[in-house]
Amino acid sequence: MLSAALAVGFVVAADAAEIGRECLLSTKTTSLALALKDGSWNVLHYGDRVAGFSDAAALSWNRWTGGNYVQRAPSAYAVYGESAQRGYSFNKWGGLQATHADGCPTTVLVGVKAETVEDAPGAKHVALTMKDASYPFFVVQHFRALETCDVIETWVELRNEEDGAVRLGRMDSFAMGFPLLANAFSFQYVTGQWASEAQLRETPVERGQTVSIGSRSGVRDAWDNNASFMLSVGEAASETSGRVFGGVLCWSGSWGISVQRDQCDFVEVRAGADTSAGAYVLDSGKSIALPKFAFTWSSSGKGQISRNIHRWAREWQMPAGGKLRPVLLNSWEGSYFSFTEKVLHDMMDGVKEMGGELFVLDDGWFGTGKYARDDVHRDKVGLGDWVVNPEKLPNGLVGLSDEAKARGLKFGFWVEPEMVNTNSWLYEAHPDWVIRAKNRPVKVGRGGSQTVLDFSNPAVRENIYGQLDALYSKVPDLSYIKWDANADFYNIGSTYLDAQHQANLPFDYTVGLYDLLAKLRAKYPQVDIQACSSGGGHVDYGFLRYADEFWGSDDSDARERVFIQWGESQFYPACAIAAHVTDVPNHQTKRTTPLKYRFDVAMSARLGFELHPKNMDTNEVAFAKKCVADYKRIRPTVQQGDLYRLVSPYGSSHAALMYANEGATHAVVFLWGLVRGNWSDYVPPIRLDGICGEKTYRVREINVRDGVKHTLADGKRLSGESLKAMGLPVRLRGDYDSAVFELTAE
Ligand code: GLA
Repeated sequence: MLSAALAVGFVVAADAAEIGRECLLSTKTTSLALALKDGSWNVLHYGDRVAGFSDAAALSWNRWTGGNYVQRAPSAYAVYGESAQRGYSFNKWGGLQATHADGCPTTVLVGVKAETVEDAPGAKHVALTMKDASYPFFVVQHFRALETCDVIETWVELRNEEDGAVRLGRMDSFAMGFPLLANAFSFQYVTGQWASEAQLRETPVERGQTVSIGSRSGVRDAWDNNASFMLSVGEAASETSGRVFGGVLCWSGSWGISVQRDQCDFVEVRAGADTSAGAYVLDSGKSIALPKFAFTWSSSGKGQISRNIHRWAREWQMPAGGKLRPVLLNSWEGSYFSFTEKVLHDMMDGVKEMGGELFVLDDGWFGTGKYARDDVHRDKVGLGDWVVNPEKLPNGLVGLSDEAKARGLKFGFWVEPEMVNTNSWLYEAHPDWVIRAKNRPVKVGRGGSQTVLDFSNPAVRENIYGQLDALYSKVPDLSYIKWDANADFYNIGSTYLDAQHQANLPFDYTVGLYDLLAKLRAKYPQVDIQACSSGGGHVDYGFLRYADEFWGSDDSDARERVFIQWGESQFYPACAIAAHVTDVPNHQTKRTTPLKYRFDVAMSARLGFELHPKNMDTNEVAFAKKCVADYKRIRPTVQQGDLYRLVSPYGSSHAALMYANEGATHAVVFLWGLVRGNWSDYVPPIRLDGICGEKTYRVREINVRDGVKHTLADGKRLSGESLKAMGLPVRLRGDYDSAVFELTAE
């Protein structure tokens, strides 16, 4: 709800008829200062907290301090066509390009209203309404500053009151101009592919360059690049030092992020939904809300950016981010499509014995008749028919849920609601419900028959909602859904949208996906969701508005996971990162790592299993039981604590990280050996950033196997001051050796 008057954070202009011209939004340690200049909102400052608006105004960049040749204004929302700093030109870049109803391709925004918006405690929310100087085309830019996590959320609403459609050639959510912050910039992001997602990369942004990342999958939006980045302002920041801007785009469809550094060191940062399929057509009288972008600032390195975003995710973005996640067993790698009820019951017995809390049935339980997804047809059939296969599961999902309940386990199952096989009853009935170009053949991916449903069409969403609703409601104790999505848009086109609106498909598809997720989440709030998309294809904060965790990769090899989880940890909290102990040799990489190593890696995130426990011997089960019991004790710190990345696996023979709870009275350190390049690659003492120098800690090694310890400090009571000064002395023996240490303040 918009409140009429301007409140805290705003200075109302002397002339009451005028709108507020000054906006200062501060969090615990950051400030964003905006001023209405020449009719539009300019950025005076974003970074460390300032004492007041007048300081920001006095100290801010202007044409006198530099950049006389800058052709752009430092706009809070840069648009194609706005007046340039020098007055006689216009911004040729910007995040929004709107072609107005009469064909005019430029937009010139003028501030018309600035209001505070009532919001939750801890959130300062302002809405800046702007209008094109010549057209009834409105832009409302929201900023929501969240005090405790130092994150500002922003999103933009566009409203077309022209007498015809406006075409949006670019429709970024964030497009902010920063003049002369530094003379060096460096862009960190993650990239990858199936089974090697989230590989960390960093590149300098040279003068005159634009660095960009994005995804045009339409569905698997986070497979190749993740919609998140850190920009070092000055030389590349480290974990603990340097000035860094960090941002995440909350969107599960195609997207793009770019950082443009021009010849005058003016930087424009843009992030938003992708329009490579063509301009989005916003009809007369219609509004559109663009995806949210969340950003934060640190002048003490990248680690703080991660901690800010993790806290934001847990406290503001995820549905139940403060809740502890259960230890589960997922059936996939343990049985793939080959299971009977007996196999699943045995898995339940196994995970129960090890202390697990939830059993999840993966793919292969649905489809009927010739489209049953059985051991013969496997992934070639059945998607779209969300009915249990009675041949495989005579007692249905409810039978399995009852069996789980009888063992004291919760129950969940796998679905792939965005998809259909051309070999399915659904496709037979509705061949026009898939995404396809009108005059081109339907293209298929996995299993030679999988393709994507057209979620821009409400009838398609209704059908899938109806099927899932019927399914969920039959399983009263349902507590978890693994939501998978194993295809991209193989071509673009919708039989639902008319010829003029075909290019709206990618955006409208994702809006449709959220509509379905929101309806299910509202009706079944107790049913947690895991976001999965061929592994890490749905690792994004748009999906995590509805989901509690994600499957970050189909590569479950512990060594690979050290890197993948390292990359994911840049922006995603441990409670959201599903990490499973699997069998060896690993099914993807064929690598064999010790069971202890697999536990030590999986326990640094949301621990689970993905194997058949019957393949474990009694000694392994005993070790697993102890690990799960210890995990439950350290779980609040791992899942809800602050992350400190201590030693990067990149370019090192080992890696280490630590979680500390609020107040640092409890900390858990994970140390993983990689391949030792040279016998002289000893592990230097681990510097424990994040513990408290004023406290005294008891150090205890956990997950000890066969009595082998990795620190002589085990059992000792040591001051935080000394531990910080000297580090924790450790020893790793051979490749893939690892250790976990618990520090408890006494
Ligand atoms: C995808 C997922 C896997 C598994 C299979 C099932 O590949 O990433 O975890 O669920 O589908 O078909």
